[in-house]
Amino acid sequence: MNKEIIDMQEITKFQSKSEEFCPMDWYKKMLVNEPIYYNKETDTWNVFKYKDVKQVLSKHEFFSSVGNRSTVAVGANNKEGQIPEKVNVAGSDPPKHQKSRSLLSAAFTPRSIKNWEPRIQEIANKLVHDMEANSTVDIVQQFSGLYPTMVMADLIGVPSTDSLRYKRWVDVLFQPYTKGKEQEIDEKKQNAAREYFEYLYPLVIQKHSNPSDDIISDLIKVELEGERFTDDEIVRTTMLLLGAGIETTGHMISSMFYSLLYDDTTLYEQLRNDLELVPNAVEEMLRYRFNISKRERFVKQDNNILGVELKKGDVVIAWMSAANMDEEMFENPFELNIHRPNNKKHLTFGNGPHFCLGAPLARLELNIALKTFLQNFSQIEPVQSFNLEENLTESAPGQSLVHLPLNVYQ
Ligand code: HEM
Repeated sequence: MNKEIIDMQEITKFQSKSEEFCPMDWYKKMLVNEPIYYNKETDTWNVFKYKDVKQVLSKHEFFSSVGNRSTVAVGANNKEGQIPEKVNVAGSDPPKHQKSRSLLSAAFTPRSIKNWEPRIQEIANKLVHDMEANSTVDIVQQFSGLYPTMVMADLIGVPSTDSLRYKRWVDVLFQPYTKGKEQEIDEKKQNAAREYFEYLYPLVIQKHSNPSDDIISDLIKVELEGERFTDDEIVRTTMLLLGAGIETTGHMISSMFYSLLYDDTTLYEQLRNDLELVPNAVEEMLRYRFNISKRERFVKQDNNILGVELKKGDVVIAWMSAANMDEEMFENPFELNIHRPNNKKHLTFGNGPHFCLGAPLARLELNIALKTFLQNFSQIEPVQSFNLEENLTESAPGQSLVHLPLNVYQ
């Protein structure tokens, strides 16, 4: 492991997986009683209110992204799995960060996103058409667990026939660490990184003479102030993109379906009757159902910006999902309301210099996923025997669904 992991359980004291999956009561309690909370066990400051979270994420002169402790650990730490220093966006501050981000942005031009839309639609169509109408489907196993990997594999330039093989490496690389099994998991990750590297490297070489409309070809072309990617760096850069973009998007899609089934059962029909509502519904789901979004920062210089004395080196955790429930920002925040006018102001994609580079892609994937479903199935309903607690597992974004059965009708 590269960084010391901060044990979130010490901070939240959640009693069950379901409580972590639906942490609204905890957010409410913290927002009201302890909006800035020092946790002794982990030696961390925890910040919940919208305006404070925004300051922590955006004021990089005071709150740095460079530090040796983390709330999540992903990827592998051998030479094949390490993020190239020149694109280490998540672990650098401006001005260095700007250059890394510009290099990486080559993979996400608005033109690329527009061109990718039909390809993403095709993947969504395939997965939805494989589901039998008037039957019970498992949205996690048959859709949200596959779709973001297939999309990323396709956009990176991996042949579609290999996407399931590819998914197996990705699953291992981004599996969270469990206490007591760190070494075993480390070894598995290192093997997966090695296999991944050996698989992708020859593809990068081929793309030099045979470029196409994909991320590898874009990364080969990019040049900034005389700097270019080596082939080895391109392979490792794709790993960064996988780490940032797959679990997050899959988790969000599963949670979105959970919301349609359990938070507001009238929503599906409303959306079917007016597909124009889909983009706003997606934003509201990102605000209300992406639990748990949080990021750590390291105090760069002593300050009192948040109204408490922070010392250089202190760790501050910004709880974005809690900030999304701050009533000073969102009216009736604990209500799911797809007509909310300002829900795009949620902090699920962060804020400031590190604002999610993949947000346009994630939004596109979520909109296509939901629309494709609405266009193919007239009705969805929960399966009576479903037990939330038994169907959750720990993942980088918090507890994620491993199964979510639902009945679909044509
Ligand atoms: C629902 C899906 C997603 C969520 C909730 C999400 C969330 C976030 C958040 C909160 C950050 C900011 C981190 C910070 O401030 O330290 C971030 C950064 C980032 N995200 Fe996403 N993300 C999603 C999907 C994606 C996708 C699909 C990609 C691309 C494949 C991606 C690529 C990145 C990258 C490269 C960064 C680093 C940006 C930087 O540090 O400058 N994300 N994401």
